[in-house]
Amino acid sequence: MASPVTLAVPRGAATRQAEKLTVSDLLTDQDLTCSDLELLFRLTDRIKSAPGSFARALAGKQLAMIFEKPSLRTRVTFEVAMTSMGGSAIYLDESRQRLGEREAIQDVARNLERWVDGIVARTFAHSTVCALAEHASVPVINALTDRWHPCQALADFFTLRERFGKLAGLRMSYVGDGNNVCHSLMATAAKLGVQFTVATPPGFEPNPEIVRVAQHDAQASSGSLRLCQDPLEAVGGAQAVYTDVWASMGQEAEAAARERAFAAYQVNETLMAAAGPHALFMHCLPAHRGQEVTDAVIDSPRSLVYDQAENRLHVQKALLFLLLRRGRSA
Ligand code: CP
Ligand code: NVA
Repeated sequence: MASPVTLAVPRGAATRQAEKLTVSDLLTDQDLTCSDLELLFRLTDRIKSAPGSFARALAGKQLAMIFEKPSLRTRVTFEVAMTSMGGSAIYLDESRQRLGEREAIQDVARNLERWVDGIVARTFAHSTVCALAEHASVPVINALTDRWHPCQALADFFTLRERFGKLAGLRMSYVGDGNNVCHSLMATAAKLGVQFTVATPPGFEPNPEIVRVAQHDAQASSGSLRLCQDPLEAVGGAQAVYTDVWASMGQEAEAAARERAFAAYQVNETLMAAAGPHALFMHCLPAHRGQEVTDAVIDSPRSLVYDQAENRLHVQKALLFLLLRRGRSA
């Protein structure tokens, strides 16, 4: 586990004072405080508006990117983020075997920490990313596990902040599977004072322990978290309607059964009409068009999906800047 980080800001960047996150890894959304989120969003604003000021911010830094599962957005945005800040990224394809099979995870961590300044990992078991962080002295970033997708939630709430100016009091509804993306959105929404509603079919609810923590956090932030089963009821009055695939990576064998279970949870024009004329549509992508969302919704002017994808780049640049700009002895 890397130790907490204090930062000097690059010459020419808009930020002047030293700023730090309270965490040295990003494993779950629960780990970030409200001030961490505010720091990340403010830095993302600066990086997005003046990327040239950060062109050498990670000069000489190396990032290892371990992927047990496929990726378009996460892989490309982390690699572009590193190279456009003067660093570089190395892609490690672990799709043919799970991490820990060829050699112990602690040995992977203890090798990588000798060569690189940070590790990004997309794994099946969430415990794999935690084990990497436990044994590596460099920062570890969760690039999606079966349980969490924190980088996605950061980009999504940054996107909503751009649209609405503020997040506290925002009404957002998630419709579909109580999965990794749902967990990350729910946990982050609860820190930000968002009024968050989740509608899932019976048996596909989010993890009850993550719900419990989010309910606690929502109380502290004056947000709210409501779980229900009726998608029409869930989206009433929502400013943003979010959905994700019905079968996540690793659940391919369940795809047909899930398609039946989720049929009433499709985000289509009828559901968006129930949300109201100004409701925006969100999806982490990849989307299964014709299943969880129709073409008419995802391709409509209400859809934020490509803004969300773009903001993965900007928010991850901020994250890498805050986590990687530190000496090995820090
Ligand atoms: N949203 C997202 O993480 O996309 P990828 O699976 O393509 O990385
Ligand atoms: N829930 C999806 C998200 C993909 C970005 C999955 O895990 O496959």
